[in-house]
Amino acid sequence: MKILITGGCGFVGSNLSIFLKNKIKKSKIYSLDNLSRNGSKINLQRLKENKIQNFNFDIANYNKLKKTGKFNLIIDCCAEPAIEESIKNPDNVFNTNLLGTFNILKKCTEDKTNIIFLSTSRVYSIESLNKIIKKKNLKNKIYSKVKINENYSTSSPKSLYGLSKLASEELIKEFNYMHNIKYLINRFGVIAGPWQFGKQDQGFVSLWVGKHIYKKKLAYIGYGGHGNQIRDIIHIDDVCNIIFRQITKFSKINNHIFNIGGSIKNKISLKELTILCEKITKNKINIAKKIKTSQFDIPYYVTDNKKISKYYNWSPKKNINDILVDTKNWILKYNKLLIKFF
Ligand SMILES: NC(=O)c1ccc[n+]([C@@H]2O[C@H](COP(=O)([O-])OP(=O)(O)OC[C@H]3O[C@@H](n4cnc5c(N)ncnc54)[C@H](O)[C@@H]3O)[C@@H](O)[C@H]2O)c1
Repeated sequence: MKILITGGCGFVGSNLSIFLKNKIKKSKIYSLDNLSRNGSKINLQRLKENKIQNFNFDIANYNKLKKTGKFNLIIDCCAEPAIEESIKNPDNVFNTNLLGTFNILKKCTEDKTNIIFLSTSRVYSIESLNKIIKKKNLKNKIYSKVKINENYSTSSPKSLYGLSKLASEELIKEFNYMHNIKYLINRFGVIAGPWQFGKQDQGFVSLWVGKHIYKKKLAYIGYGGHGNQIRDIIHIDDVCNIIFRQITKFSKINNHIFNIGGSIKNKISLKELTILCEKITKNKINIAKKIKTSQFDIPYYVTDNKKISKYYNWSPKKNINDILVDTKNWILKYNKLLIKFF
């Protein structure tokens, strides 16, 4: 089986490439990545060690994409995934996220290839998500058990990032209708684990662990700076496992949208994350408070895994402690290489 993973030198793409190479016998895995993300050059080295070739060019360049050969499956992990970037550099978000997926779909049509698309929980409506928790309640710990399923509102606003991913989903459905390109769309919540070069607005879990290890500065941003906002977290290993399962069952289960995440068992507030990081690193740092909330931030997101669990008899195996310990061990093992990223 010949698989192209776009964004193959990113956090998800690199872990997935290496996982699938080892898991699927006689597979040929290729990556496409222009190495624009901080840390992607380090991931490229890992791909080389695993004999995975990377095509180094911009996904917006269809002429180059056309010449990469024919694949049985394309897994689209290429994106500008940071919300703040959609404010600073909207052109890049649209060229990479939307035009990129459009180019992939043209290639899928030409070669009769199917697609697995990595979408995001950020396709859902900010306005609706904001209503789950009243702002004044964010002074205290949140006890909500609300879970977000695939039918949740996707009405705007949702950030240009979220819109570019939802528009890509719509494109995929059009290509399915026009050219019978079969697809799976996975709307992931927060993914975390080794080889994530985290930033404040994307990849906060590895950032939190790294800053604690190196005793650097951090801040609770928004919602009064209390750190009570909640997300559910899924380990990258669980992500690789479910995508592998989807590949093996692709001929039977396709043309679906799934929400996938850590769900209730793996939900955590920033404040609770701090306590766990203190415990596993044995370091305590002062965390600043930035009171002002970004208009794109949401107070709460927890995934409803009901549909994905039903279709694949699957649920995430790794808990938050596993995620944090694996991330800590990764940073300490590659200390010299990684220190500059935190
Ligand atoms: N990490 C998460 O928590 C998370 C959550 C939900 C959805 N997702 C989705 O999963 C996918 C992978 O996310 P990630 O965390 O691995 O992101 P990442 O930034 O680590 O990886 C993206 C990769 O794409 C590459 N890239 C960016 N622009 C490019 C371009 N124009 N041409 C070619 N390559 C380009 C980057 O160099 C990078 O290596 C994305 O589609 C993202 O929207 C991620």
